[in-house]
Amino acid sequence: MANPCRKLLFNIYMGFYCSTIMPKMCICSQLSMSSTDPFNKDPGAFPVATNGEPFPWNKLRLPTMVIPLHYDLLVHPNLTSLDFVGSEKIEVLVRDATQYIILHSKDLEVMNVILQSEEDLRYRKPGKKLNVLSYPAHQQIALLVPEKLMADLRYSVAINFQAKLANSFEGFYKSTYRTRGGKTRIVAVTDFEPTEARMAFPCFDEPLFKANFSIKIRRESGHIALSNMPKVKTIELEGGLLEDHFETTVKMSTYLVAYIVCDFNSVSGTTSSGVKVSVYATPDKWSQTHYALEASLKLLDFYENYFDINYPLPKLDLIAIPDFESGAMENWGLITYRETSLLFDTKTSSASDQLWVTKVIAHELAHQWFGNLVTMEWWNDIWLNEGFATYMELISVNATYPELQSDDAFLDVCFAVIKKDSLNSSRPISNQAETPTQIAEMFDAVSYNKGACILNMLKDFLNEEKFHKGIIHYLKRFSYGNAKNDDLWSSLSNSCLGDFTSGEFCYSDSKMTSNTLAFLGENVEVKEMMTTWTQQKGIPLVVVTREGRSLRLQQERFLSGVFKEDPEWRALQERYLWHIPLTYCTSSSNVIRSHVLKSRTDTLELSENSSWVKFNVDSNGYYVVHYEGRGWDQLITQLNQNHTLLRPKDRVGLIHDAFQLVSAGRLTLDKALDLTRYLQHEASIPALLKGLEYLELFYHMMDRKNVSDVTENLKHYILRYFKPVIDTQSWSDKGSVWDRMLRSTILKLACYLNHAPCIQKATELFSQWMESSGKLNIPSDVLNIVYSVGAQTTVGWNYLLEQYGLSMSGAEKKKILYALSTSKHQEKLMKLIELGMEGEVIKTQELSPLLYVIARNPKGQQLSWNFLRENWTHLLKKFDLGSYAMRMIISGTTSHFSSKDELQEVKLFFESLKAQGLHLDIFQIILETISKNIKWLEKNLPTLRTWLLVNS
Ligand code: BES
Ligand code: ZN
Repeated sequence: MANPCRKLLFNIYMGFYCSTIMPKMCICSQLSMSSTDPFNKDPGAFPVATNGEPFPWNKLRLPTMVIPLHYDLLVHPNLTSLDFVGSEKIEVLVRDATQYIILHSKDLEVMNVILQSEEDLRYRKPGKKLNVLSYPAHQQIALLVPEKLMADLRYSVAINFQAKLANSFEGFYKSTYRTRGGKTRIVAVTDFEPTEARMAFPCFDEPLFKANFSIKIRRESGHIALSNMPKVKTIELEGGLLEDHFETTVKMSTYLVAYIVCDFNSVSGTTSSGVKVSVYATPDKWSQTHYALEASLKLLDFYENYFDINYPLPKLDLIAIPDFESGAMENWGLITYRETSLLFDTKTSSASDQLWVTKVIAHELAHQWFGNLVTMEWWNDIWLNEGFATYMELISVNATYPELQSDDAFLDVCFAVIKKDSLNSSRPISNQAETPTQIAEMFDAVSYNKGACILNMLKDFLNEEKFHKGIIHYLKRFSYGNAKNDDLWSSLSNSCLGDFTSGEFCYSDSKMTSNTLAFLGENVEVKEMMTTWTQQKGIPLVVVTREGRSLRLQQERFLSGVFKEDPEWRALQERYLWHIPLTYCTSSSNVIRSHVLKSRTDTLELSENSSWVKFNVDSNGYYVVHYEGRGWDQLITQLNQNHTLLRPKDRVGLIHDAFQLVSAGRLTLDKALDLTRYLQHEASIPALLKGLEYLELFYHMMDRKNVSDVTENLKHYILRYFKPVIDTQSWSDKGSVWDRMLRSTILKLACYLNHAPCIQKATELFSQWMESSGKLNIPSDVLNIVYSVGAQTTVGWNYLLEQYGLSMSGAEKKKILYALSTSKHQEKLMKLIELGMEGEVIKTQELSPLLYVIARNPKGQQLSWNFLRENWTHLLKKFDLGSYAMRMIISGTTSHFSSKDELQEVKLFFESLKAQGLHLDIFQIILETISKNIKWLEKNLPTLRTWLLVNS
């Protein structure tokens, strides 16, 4: 999910972190509400159903006259004919009398609909057959009732339907895998969020329509069926088919329903509170499930304690699906994962793989409360799900796996979104979303990363205990219901406004005390503050100017790529104002002070003289800081004299902010580079990695541009400067997780830069590995490097491709595919893309990360860009325009460009798409990113050249 996208492309399912710049849009013109849609021209008019009759509902959102209470759902997937038939009985409550029921349904053939009133049911009357109208543009069907349904009565709607198992990654779809013995097996699996439950059964497919589900699945005896709840019984049908009946679910939204028919194996354990946890994978990968079981047991125990609410279901299954578009999906009681997000292979999974798997499990388990138990009212606030789950990764992994030191990785969660949020094309956290396309676009870095970062900032502001109690309050108050932003803010400020709950934080009216009033005041403060972060796009820049002991503070909107001297800068600043909870410390005191900056300018007095002041302690705040005058020099001097007087996360933050300020034209590149020179004494790995990351980024930028003098000098600088670190690395899996991640990163860079000892060692290991017919165990942290060096010869490349087909480890395959894509031979890169298009040897799910990495290979950038344009229609057959994969492909093959000609080409391409009615918000983000790259180079290439001459 780009490489703020947490570094290793194949490591993550980049879908998510990267996707964030990639909105979704439906390619089907019916869905995109094109201007040719008559409905759009006159929103008051009724649309026309497929049979030519008027469709009685003209809005995308369902009416609320009828609400679902309970679904009885029976599904029979046929894994031979690759289709499914289903029947359901939906019990509904009529709130206002109506003559029709509107439901969601997409690509389903609805065969028969019968309505029964309570009376019909009581007297076993057959019910009435209803006419069904279909309006595919809104993915809706209308059930027309002959006589008005009466308010406050319940009815039962029985529907029969059928469809093909989808050939994609959504709805009820087909996944396949090959056994070690070479046989192909089929799996039928669901993936519904946000709006695809309607592809599996007609339903009220909106998060607010919570209901209970009783699910039955038919299957053959060689398969198992899984669903949200435990199985209660299996009955044998005529002809030997089996029908599994699952317990009725708790009240939940449709997007969380799940069922799977497969032939997987599992491992199980029980939590302290008695929940049965099982991890499923294909039989050949069963041995890779144990780490996930251990982690999920620990994490489930942790969450039950932390939230003070038990996980409400008797069981939780986690299952690795061979074809999965994103990283994972939190279906209640049956969480689905991409194989590399769940499985851990002791031989081939690296330290960062372990961190990734742990975080994905932590994320999806957090959703069992944030999202499943309490759901946002509507998709505009999806950050309440995703921001919280991302934030909870930090809290829970820190508590359960302190040795992973995952809080050090959290800074990158914020840095990744700052890059995007400082473009004008960003969006506010809460954003209107109506169409499926707009809804899908909400699953981006703004919802996930910025959401998590502002929560972390708020926790820092309120203090840990209060924040913790507040979220417990929020979860308890809205259990099995839905919430919006304001509900969260009032829970977090311990206010019981509106709705009184007894408990330790709330006071009834009769007990109105000054305490209560203080709480009310605080509620306003929290709400006012947080609204400035959720309703406005962008990130503030705090400019600090020091004169003696007084500090002048100024806030403005931080924009990268637009400089203060540019004519458009002023207009882009208008109306932006945040309530920024500032923290700072100084050279003379390590006490953390705080101040809320609510106005454009403000002043602060320091209590003692000090040689420097540093804002945003531990980088907990979501803002960039610029020190005017001598501010940066004073900090650089301190770093060089004794960097340990600044806290480790502050050092990472300083490196980050300095380079961001370069992009914004506020700091010169040589100043930022000078700041990194203290790194030769740095022992803290996150700071070291941050500095290295920027140097590496510049190297790749220069390499792709073919600026050979700068590339060469930069290479020598990096190798010379980091020589002590490179030389002390062992080719092993020893040390802490961060030691291991440093080893992977630095050796990868050293070999990439052709550092002779590195190449020699990697070549040696690769030959031994080949000679052992792939049996030799190479330390997992250097596997990527060994394979990449090996992939540079034709023999090695071919051997790796062969091993790719045979490997039973997703972690290993990911590393092999990465290595293959670093080849300098274009025909080899093309072959990989072709294999990815074919989907046999390289699965379609790998195509987007593959194209992303190939586009970053100097020999592959033109190739992948041409491929995108030439194969556009083929790609659209595989992925929805707005899908994760497609958004990653488009941005992956374009957003690193940095010349005017390239910008023009991309612009033309996007315009041609728009002319076909295909529009994505990401187009603007990409164009702005390329313009920013161009500007960066124009301004900074000469500086970089000179700096290297002086410093190499
Ligand atoms: N709820 C999402 C899955 C999802 C993503 C649904 C996009 C619809 C659209 C899930 O909880 C999630 O966030 N998955 C991430 C992995 C996670 C660890 C960041 C993903 O799939 O990338
Ligand atoms: Zn999530």
